[in-house]
Amino acid sequence: MRTQVVIVGAGPSGLLLGGLLSKAGIDNMLVEQRSGEYVLGRIRAGVLEQGAVDMLDEAGVGARLHAEGLVHGGIEISWAGGRHRIDLHGLTGKRVMVYGQTEITRDLMHLREGSGRPTVYEAESVSVHDIDGARPSVRYHKDGQTHTIECDFIAGCDGFHGVCRASVPKDRITLHEKVYPFGWLGLLADVPPLSHELIYVNHERGFGLCSMRSRTRSRYYVQCSLDDRIEQWSDQAFWNELRARLPADAAASLVTGPSLEKSIAPLRSFVAEPMRFGRLFLAGDAAHIVPPTGAKGLNLAATDVGYLGQGLIGHYKGQPADLDRYSERCLRRIWRAERFSWWMTSLMHTFPTSGSFDRKVQLAELDYLVHSEAAARALAENYVGLPM
Ligand code: FAD
Ligand code: DHB
Repeated sequence: MRTQVVIVGAGPSGLLLGGLLSKAGIDNMLVEQRSGEYVLGRIRAGVLEQGAVDMLDEAGVGARLHAEGLVHGGIEISWAGGRHRIDLHGLTGKRVMVYGQTEITRDLMHLREGSGRPTVYEAESVSVHDIDGARPSVRYHKDGQTHTIECDFIAGCDGFHGVCRASVPKDRITLHEKVYPFGWLGLLADVPPLSHELIYVNHERGFGLCSMRSRTRSRYYVQCSLDDRIEQWSDQAFWNELRARLPADAAASLVTGPSLEKSIAPLRSFVAEPMRFGRLFLAGDAAHIVPPTGAKGLNLAATDVGYLGQGLIGHYKGQPADLDRYSERCLRRIWRAERFSWWMTSLMHTFPTSGSFDRKVQLAELDYLVHSEAAARALAENYVGLPM
């Protein structure tokens, strides 16, 4: 088999890149180790910056997003029993869109099916070869057979645990990592959201987040221990813990119900540099992870894919400049998002090692945030996203 670009991983990065390339008439194949159903079952991101929305529009999947997505002009931050609104739109002129990663993935899958370009699901033992040669290839096993796809380029969109980054020789890649001493326990339920905007909660018992997927479906998170197992958390235990962290008026209006999904995610900051190795390019979570507090992961993935799409389209038109500066273009934004996500994580969570001094500094910083327009604007500018 031969194609122009093999995309490894059919999460949002891989599917979006496939959509952009297909639209430009560039042949591509997607190779995914899981089933489509499994990919759709992972409940993750909820908040999109305008740049990511624009990219989804460009790929041709904006219709349902604009019809069903919730446009938010602010967020709330709560601590010490109070609630404070950050007026994102008033401070920056921009808003964000609340629309679930599951729905984006579903829309991109439909687009893919319509394009007639191949997607191999449940590909086993995926491996990448000859990334420095003129003809790199991707190999996988399926139904007892080994398949090899030769190509011009490989796009590693296979997430943090993928094979692409792991295939790069150690002396050609630099990894920067910070692991946080806690995780997020998330719960999805068909109950109306607590409030019409997101609430980020700083509490001695740990961070909490009230988010949503629609006017009838809520997504909530509580900071948990890395030792916690999902089986230990009954729905009732989750709701009790969330309620204990919310300010009284919010706790009083919390509507609870049976969970549709519950999962624990560890928190990590991670960057791999560079993002190009010969004819292999890394994009999305394969190259970087941000702790979810700043809602940046999927948005960064969309930017990478936008730049990679532009670069590859340029290459086939005889204009290699964008592809050559792919890494450099992405990494500047990535480090800005890493800084913001680290800062917001530090501000909002309870750290097992921190004492009363650290706690007081956190409270002083929260106070500064709502009494200084400059501080609030800095948060808002980062939250709504940098221009592409
Ligand atoms: P992934 O979604 O990880 O997709 C990678 C794909 O590659 C997967 O389908 C995987 O099965 C496949 N794969 C892996 N290995 C192989 C292999 N060897 N061969 C073939 N295929 C392989 N981001 C935001 O912007 N806003 C938010 O509000 C937000 N909230 C979040 C909340 C939580 C709890 C979490 C965990 C994340 C959140 N994120 C958020 C981050 C966001 O979900 C990720 O950044 C996004 O999923 C990255 O997409 P991706 O396609 O690069 O990687
Ligand atoms: C969601 C996740 C986040 O990490 C965040 O900062 C905001 C919202 C969500 O899943 O809805």
